Amino acid sequence: MDAEAILTNGRGTVPRYTSYPTAPHFTDQDGLAIARSRLQRLPDGEAVSLYLHIPYCDRLCWFCGCHTKHTLKYAPVETYVGALIQELATVRETAGRRLRLAHLHLGGGSPSMLRQPDLERLSLALRANFEIDAQTEVSVEIDPSDVTDETLKGLVALGVTRASVGVQDFSDAVQEAINRPQTFEQTRDVIAALRATGIRSLNIDALYGLPLQTETRLMSTIDKVLSLSPDRIALFGYAHVPWMKKHQTLIRDEDLPGTMERFHHAALAADRIAAAGYDRIGIDHFAKPADAMAVAAREGRLFRNFQGYTTDDCRTLIGVGASSISSYGDAYVQNIVPTAQYQKTVQDGRLSAMRGVQLTLDDRIRAYMIERLMCDFAFSFDALEQRFGYAARPYVAEAKIAVANDGFGLCEIADGRFRVRDEARPFTRVVASFFDAYLDDRAVRYSKAV
Ligand SMILES: C[S@@+](CC[C@H](N)C(=O)[O-])C[C@H]1O[C@@H](n2cnc3c(N)ncnc32)[C@H](O)[C@@H]1O
Ligand code: SF4
Repeated sequence: MDAEAILTNGRGTVPRYTSYPTAPHFTDQDGLAIARSRLQRLPDGEAVSLYLHIPYCDRLCWFCGCHTKHTLKYAPVETYVGALIQELATVRETAGRRLRLAHLHLGGGSPSMLRQPDLERLSLALRANFEIDAQTEVSVEIDPSDVTDETLKGLVALGVTRASVGVQDFSDAVQEAINRPQTFEQTRDVIAALRATGIRSLNIDALYGLPLQTETRLMSTIDKVLSLSPDRIALFGYAHVPWMKKHQTLIRDEDLPGTMERFHHAALAADRIAAAGYDRIGIDHFAKPADAMAVAAREGRLFRNFQGYTTDDCRTLIGVGASSISSYGDAYVQNIVPTAQYQKTVQDGRLSAMRGVQLTLDDRIRAYMIERLMCDFAFSFDALEQRFGYAARPYVAEAKIAVANDGFGLCEIADGRFRVRDEARPFTRVVASFFDAYLDDRAVRYSKAV
């Protein structure tokens, strides 16, 4: 398989497919009406998931692609937590009851920069507005440089069961090039402290494709990550999108590894993690074989949401906070992005939903095919027909045409399934893009395919 030809002559940049349609295509201006109507007609007793976004960090890493803002003062964060608490109450009022939570995820930005009193009042507000019990999975993204004894007490108050710790790369040269100092010892100690609080499952994020990253530096980082024995590892490719994230212009183009170097680094790191006994999950995750994500992947119960891979099978994911995205099965809605405008809206007692998209039947069928490709590297024609009936027929035909037109040999049809060929798995996003009806919108630019 000619990786270079695929990446240079094929589709070199494609979406990450954390949703379909992808966020640039949420064009319906009446996101508020969509959110309201979906919250009002949630079936009785159905559990939902909640995503809570903290758009603040106490440092600014130059590689960062997240919706976040650097702040040296804590006061704006405290004010923002007040707005989140207000929005939680508005969600409950709109739904007309306390919804049962299966999963709660705090992401950002850096939720770990919240101080203990704010974590505690957030926890109280969550419990006042939602049903949370011992079955509810509570996960939080952690920047180790934030964590103090107070943070740990706050996380215990919140009932955190799963933590995701950002590492990226441990070498000094790379850390300097991305403005993210973080020692191995500091990371190790924070992980030990998190485990001591009773957290059941731990993920570490690492990146390839970073500036000044060499094979030696990346592999040394991976070995250090493995020595911490996380239950899961996410190995993301650095998405360099300086046209969207101005601070990424602080990273020098000449320091970035080339396309083929990225590709080799990704493969080497993945092989090292797999050799240490981790299962490969989808395109960029790894999990110990007994971990819930590895079990779900084996059983075809892995899904994709805005955070990446998940075992969460709730139909509804409610996003709270500035820029958060909600998924209602047949619609997506994004909240207001600028923090000040978000706060003003929710403090007036309104939902912050702004733009959205209601999925057509075509969107829903393509979303299913793309999600299964991203999770299982395949979809079965029978499953497609069981789910969508006769409407599935043209898509089966489209899959056959995709194989016929695939000059690089990335996909095939075998045993009634359209599948990514084993050796083409690194190009799964490219194969998924064969079914993306929005891809030719030239106004939107994506990150590198691998
Ligand atoms: C919200 S951040 C992590 C939480 C915490 N603020 C931290 O930095 O440790 C989630 C993850 O997104 C990944 N990430 C951020 N910017 C990225 C980019 N430009 N390309 C790829 N992954 C990125 C990083 O691996 C990061 O750990
Ligand atoms: S990587 Fe994490 S800590 Fe760094 S700026 Fe992004 S969200 Fe903040």
